Amino acid sequence: MKKVIALVLALSLALVLVACGTSASKESPKASAEPSATVAEGGKIGIAMPTKSLERWNRDGSFLKNQFEAKGYTVDLVYSDNDATKQVSDIENLIAGKVNLLVIVAVDGESLSTVLQTAADSKIPVISYDRLIMNTDAISYYVSFDNYTVGKLQGEYVVETLGLDLADTSKSYNIEFTAGDPADNNAGFFFNGAFDVLSPYIDAGILKVPSGQTKFEEVATAQWKTEKALDRMQNILASFYAGGTQLDVALCSNDSTALGVTQAIGSDYKGTNSVLITGQDGDEANLANLVDGKQSMTVYKAVANEAVVTVNLADAILKGETPNGDLIKSSGWTFDCTYDTDTYDNNNGKVPSYLLVPIIVTKDNLQKELVDSGYYTMGTDGYPKAVG
Ligand code: GAL
Repeated sequence: MKKVIALVLALSLALVLVACGTSASKESPKASAEPSATVAEGGKIGIAMPTKSLERWNRDGSFLKNQFEAKGYTVDLVYSDNDATKQVSDIENLIAGKVNLLVIVAVDGESLSTVLQTAADSKIPVISYDRLIMNTDAISYYVSFDNYTVGKLQGEYVVETLGLDLADTSKSYNIEFTAGDPADNNAGFFFNGAFDVLSPYIDAGILKVPSGQTKFEEVATAQWKTEKALDRMQNILASFYAGGTQLDVALCSNDSTALGVTQAIGSDYKGTNSVLITGQDGDEANLANLVDGKQSMTVYKAVANEAVVTVNLADAILKGETPNGDLIKSSGWTFDCTYDTDTYDNNNGKVPSYLLVPIIVTKDNLQKELVDSGYYTMGTDGYPKAVG
């Protein structure tokens, strides 16, 4: 485990160095939607979140709302039940309600072009929050975590924990993949980040995939639904593991899918080994599984800080500025963030992005990373509870 922590520290250091090297040096593209008038104080912010049924969006919503209100803004916060059509009409209502700026997490990244044209026509700047909105030039900025690194951390955790070595083909392990929602632009980044780390071991025969399902489309989970991940893993276990084949790793892109996979393994897996299961988000149920040894790791993204970046960015835009990498320094953030104008292209050009740094959380560093840091409190039942 020390090795894993050392790896995490080394990775964090590398990321800090990368952040220092790139944040200020890149040229700053022009924001595409300037606000109609500068709003010094008391403007109105429309926040469109995808669903309350995935834990993190409740936390994001309340962090954003509270932080905007603390700066004197009023906030209209809507959730769209993971329904892309409803989200379009929710955003139309926010525009009709004369918001000065929109913060949007798309249900379907491809379905907002028309409504965002209306926002652009009304000179309402749009921040694409966490998930990149595709096929529009109406978004000014993207705020997220380094999504490829999320998957990379998962893959590296598997390599490190199993002690995989390309020079040693004497042992092999069985792995199955569960990825996210194809309508979410992040899902491909997460999957590719993990797969790029693991595919050399698959090619060398050190990792085997008994189901044969290694393509994103084969392993994707619509809307990140726990039940869908559960059903698919039950089918895989019945079809490929019933005869006593051992499952060693279930690489899951996030916690909601990890939850379903863990349930399927709990009820339908015949083996006695403990399966290495990855996740992402630090959902409470998954942290409880970490404590109980049912899930091995989660990639944690401090969404409170993602909200801080968004609020400072929105504030600068509404004051008539055109923020770039300098915002990182001028805001005095105590966490790492990179200004990246290269990585995220939404088919309409590159979108200037503020990217925060994800970390690995396991049973061993959970207290330090999540509780001592103040993101969670430790419940009297021994399980962490999210703050906010
Ligand atoms: C992604 C997000 C993840 C996870 C997932 C499910 O877009 O980056 O943190 O929450 O959606 O909602």
